[in-house]
Amino acid sequence: MARKIVITSGKGGVGKTTVTANLGTKLANLGFRVLLVDTDIGLNNLDVVMGVENKVMFDILDIINGKCRAKQALVQDCHHPSLFILPAPNSDSDSLITAGNLLETLSTLEHFFDYILLDCPAGLDNGFHRAVYCANEAIVVVTPHISSIRDAGKVVARLANYPLSSVKLVVNRVRGDMLMTGDSIAVERIIDLLGTNILGVVPDDDAISALSAIGAIPSGTTSSRAFAILAENLHTGTKKIFDCTYRYRGIAGTIRRNLKRRI
Ligand SMILES: Nc1ncnc2c1ncn2[C@@H]1O[C@H](COP(=O)(O)OP(=O)(O)OP(=O)(O)O)[C@@H](O)[C@H]1O
Ligand SMILES: [Mg+2]
Repeated sequence: MARKIVITSGKGGVGKTTVTANLGTKLANLGFRVLLVDTDIGLNNLDVVMGVENKVMFDILDIINGKCRAKQALVQDCHHPSLFILPAPNSDSDSLITAGNLLETLSTLEHFFDYILLDCPAGLDNGFHRAVYCANEAIVVVTPHISSIRDAGKVVARLANYPLSSVKLVVNRVRGDMLMTGDSIAVERIIDLLGTNILGVVPDDDAISALSAIGAIPSGTTSSRAFAILAENLHTGTKKIFDCTYRYRGIAGTIRRNLKRRI
């Protein structure tokens, strides 16, 4: 039976879809059968980030309406045979898909997977409820910005209303150079403010935005290594934290930091 994990944040644009796509890819690299579910109805882009947009034939609404079987709507990833995407409808059909509908759909699929990651929409309304209702665990994505931390706090409080076995933070877009100069809120401070355990940190990495535009997942970059640690922590329960500052230490690191500051 799959572990069903919702990736949520409250605030929009902090990296939920990015974490879903990259973490899912790393779990598939480890040999697990992984399903990524786009629950961002109408504003869906997981298929684009995963580079399978042109392979989408059916979506969640088609399954609910009986136009196809659940397995027919799954899109296999181009690089990992054990990684699948369940797309959301493009149309504004939010009111047509209830939490119960989605849960029923996933119940027909969960036996085939080790992990089901649910990419949640921003906000705390119907879309949030629908995704969280179907999950057993939650990952709250937060960036080192006060508005993101505030929204993550509201999400953590709201998640307490659901019977989740675990709620953990991923601190995304951490700038190692700014941590070194004290210009960014420290990860430990974010953990303290939110009173929630951490799953891991992901550095700010230009490769993510550059590659997501062409539907590719970075490999061999700093963020790729951080996502590999995230997957390991998730599966084995280890508590390794990627060091975002290592590139900015020593003489070469100081030069790199100064260059970044000038850009
Ligand atoms: N660690 C990172 N480094 C650099 N860019 C990142 C990182 N994480 C996310 N991004 C970029 O930030 C933007 C928003 O990311 P993403 O779409 O994953 O956020 P989201 O929370 O899913 O947004 P929404 O709430 O709209 O669904 C994208 O352009 C993405 O490439
Ligand atoms: Mg998203």
